[in-house]
Amino acid sequence: MKHLLSAKEIDHKLGIQLLDIAAGMAGVNSSDIKKIPTLRGKSIVNLFYEDSTRTRISFELAEKRLSADVINFAAKGSSVSKGESLKDTAQTLSAMGADAIVVRHFASGAAEALAHFGWIDVPIINAGDGTHQHPTQALLDAFTLRRHLFGSSEIGKDLKGINVLIVGDIAHSRVARSNRDLLRTLGATVAFAAPVTLYPFNEDSNPFYSNLDEAISDFQPDAVMMLRVQTERMAGSYFPSEREYARMFGLNSERAAQLSKNAVVLHPGPMNRGLEITSEVADGERSLVLNQVSNGVSVRMAVLYHLLSSSEELAND
Ligand code: CP
Repeated sequence: MKHLLSAKEIDHKLGIQLLDIAAGMAGVNSSDIKKIPTLRGKSIVNLFYEDSTRTRISFELAEKRLSADVINFAAKGSSVSKGESLKDTAQTLSAMGADAIVVRHFASGAAEALAHFGWIDVPIINAGDGTHQHPTQALLDAFTLRRHLFGSSEIGKDLKGINVLIVGDIAHSRVARSNRDLLRTLGATVAFAAPVTLYPFNEDSNPFYSNLDEAISDFQPDAVMMLRVQTERMAGSYFPSEREYARMFGLNSERAAQLSKNAVVLHPGPMNRGLEITSEVADGERSLVLNQVSNGVSVRMAVLYHLLSSSEELAND
């Protein structure tokens, strides 16, 4: 694999390989000296056209922990404000010697364009493009679930037999699309619960519920992944009011109490507390939200290692 553009590109073997490498990286991250020399001498550009806290900072930490040189590029404050195109920006960064580009862009397909239009010839990692894909988020969610389920015997395991319910603004969610692809590849059964106006996969074979309480009682999820309501991507009204949405599709303590005893709750962040999830649930004992954030660093180290290490190093793994 030269680039990581979509969770669709990750087959079962590669998915397990990346999660196993991430487990090794988690060991580095929990040691006293959180740095290894793997990418010494490589320069990685984080090219962010859209705001980010978790993804941007965890990629930067991952790169630094692998000893790469890191250049952070934010569209705000750059020549993008003078009209410079994605192509010219990427070619400029490549001409300065970037060895890889991590890109977040508001346009679906931006990462594919960088990888396949022949503008530059370095690995491209998609850190979220429009409503399309966010593959490292899916990897960190799978890693979090696997670690929760198997603990220290996680290596080599997949998610066969696990029921994952993805809830909320599916229509605007690259997280939902990426998780649907990767979790299925790893053997999980994925179902969705959402208002019909926010559910785009009508032709899909995934179970779909327009009633969250029914989804919880019928599907019996082992994990519930709550999604942020992305009002910034909504041109019109998709539900009558925020109050109505919270009542019908929000995860509150009463609903969480209907989940099976060991079921866990995930959210990619940032959270709209009080809308799709209450603080009691987000900060409660079922919540793996902060585990997801921590695991993001290990998973991004694994992806960078896989794409940028020499083939001899990978062969010796
Ligand atoms: N989950 C996620 O992508 O968060 P950020 O937008 O903060 O990077």
